[in-house]
Amino acid sequence: MKDNLIITVDGPAGAGKSTVSKILSKKISYIYLDTGALYRAIAYKVAEYEISPDNEDLLSELCKKVTISIESMNGNMKVLIDGEDVTAKIRTERTGLLASKVSAVPAVRETLLSIQRKAGESGGLIAEGRDMGTVVFPYADLKFFINADAEERARRRYRELVEKGRNVNLEDVKRALLDRDQRDTTRNISPLKPSDDSAIIDTTFLNVEEVVEKMLGIIEEF
Ligand code: DC
Repeated sequence: MKDNLIITVDGPAGAGKSTVSKILSKKISYIYLDTGALYRAIAYKVAEYEISPDNEDLLSELCKKVTISIESMNGNMKVLIDGEDVTAKIRTERTGLLASKVSAVPAVRETLLSIQRKAGESGGLIAEGRDMGTVVFPYADLKFFINADAEERARRRYRELVEKGRNVNLEDVKRALLDRDQRDTTRNISPLKPSDDSAIIDTTFLNVEEVVEKMLGIIEEF
């Protein structure tokens, strides 16, 4: 395996891309870049300022005003917005849905593009998101697209939320996930889709270890 590769991992919500990206980053000592967390951090501020996700002017103004910084270590990433560590606070379904809405706004994507590219400057990076292989790192060395059946993705997300002690219902979780899929795949700018040169992995019938093994095999062969 060559050093300092840029590896991209894209896919829909609940396909398991965060879990495997974190494990892989730790295994090969690469920086883990969770780009969803950046969109969630913007969404966090949008909620705090009570800005409508449809108001492009206000969103654009907000993007000029805020400072986002990231700290990556040992397969984890911390995100700070205006100095506030929001890493844990942004992991709610509400913030995920709001992140999906604000991520369709060009000013938001532009603001986050430079932060993401800067993180990849010296390689040695596993970048996870929706448009890593298509837009942010089109020249990446290795690209993965992680997918799974919607039913299975909803079940996984449901179990994750229940484990966190949240009082949720499977049907609601599934509806929210499909809603997010629909928005993320049909937006005009940088929609979620596999790049032509990505390895597509369907994780519906695979456990985490099997997915990691598969990906590691491809990475080590490179
Ligand atoms: O991966 P996640 O659930 O944390 O992402 C939250 C939302 O952010 C997702 O629904 C769409 C948006 N997003 C994006 O548009 N592009 C990315 N590279 C990552 C996330």
